[in-house]
Amino acid sequence: THQWRGLIEEYRDRLPVGAATPVVTLLEGGTPLVPAQVLSERTGCDVFLKVEGANPTGSFKDRGMTMAISKAKEEGAQAVICASTGNTSASAAAYAVRAGMVCAVLVPQGKIALGKMGQALVHGARILQVDGNFDDCLDLARGLSDKYPVALVNSVNPVRIEGQKTAAFEIVDALGDAPDIHVLPVGNAGNITAYWKGYREYTADGVSTRNPRMWGFQASGAAPIVLGHPVRQPQTIATAIRIGNPASWQFAEEARDESGGLIDSVTDRQILAAYRLLAAQEGVFVEPASAASVAGLLQAAEQGKVDPGQRIVCTVTGNGLKDPDWAVAGAPQPVTVPVDADAAAERLGLL
Ligand code: F0G
Repeated sequence: THQWRGLIEEYRDRLPVGAATPVVTLLEGGTPLVPAQVLSERTGCDVFLKVEGANPTGSFKDRGMTMAISKAKEEGAQAVICASTGNTSASAAAYAVRAGMVCAVLVPQGKIALGKMGQALVHGARILQVDGNFDDCLDLARGLSDKYPVALVNSVNPVRIEGQKTAAFEIVDALGDAPDIHVLPVGNAGNITAYWKGYREYTADGVSTRNPRMWGFQASGAAPIVLGHPVRQPQTIATAIRIGNPASWQFAEEARDESGGLIDSVTDRQILAAYRLLAAQEGVFVEPASAASVAGLLQAAEQGKVDPGQRIVCTVTGNGLKDPDWAVAGAPQPVTVPVDADAAAERLGLL
């Protein structure tokens, strides 16, 4: 058969799994690398979108979670815990179901998108809303996993990074070599760390001839790496990346520096503009945090930092259905019509 087997089977020889590892999978990975026509025209480059919202729970977190839950299961864990701005908890909850494990999640109160909360709930996770931000949740989760028999499945767990690095493999496998630039949103900085690891491994083994420059973008109200210090009260409408003290901060700086890349910030206004452009002009509906990569690319192009003719991949990290409030907000209300063809045609401007 030709069904995609999930990233552990597809990349088994490049992952820390063995014959004894129970593979807990929802057949994640194998996501589309979609040519982006409008972005390509705007930048004079060949721009592609790595559409991670096409993963089983709607975000790239599934790549790390298939690994984290499989390894936790192998080690005999019966319960897992994570801190989350929403997507990690949705993914952990789903994979814990597959593994027959209890899943505990800690989320910042009132600051996760409804779709993500719904996922954690329907998958039966034990949810605590913490009176604090994501960084507080992560401190708490770490403390609990140190003290109690519950495995931490945040990206500070190195096997999460191992799973997530496979997205870089897929891109090189699809394009035949690494792109010139890879652009992605940065929150806790696990994903930029993972892509950089994946690209370097493929180059070291001669699968690709070079590494891309890594370009990461934070939201301007939650941009500790850009500012050079933690942000105590991070603020952005892109709740997924509302993080003031990223756990993989140092690895993100390494990815930037070793690749000759950059980490910069974009405003919420730029994020929402990119979010609308992606939906209205590329046909790709992502959540706001995901649009930070595209907002960053457009900003860099306006600043003259994007030489034409390059191959550029933007990771769009999560599905738009996770957080539809921003799609509806500010849009005109659909009009109501009677069951009448002439009335409908008139309203549609077809007459
Ligand atoms: N985009 C989305 C949709 C995310 O959910 C996240 C992180 C990021 C980007 C940033 O990735 O943290 O690896 O730099 N979400 C985490 C969570 C924090 O809890 O779901 P990162």
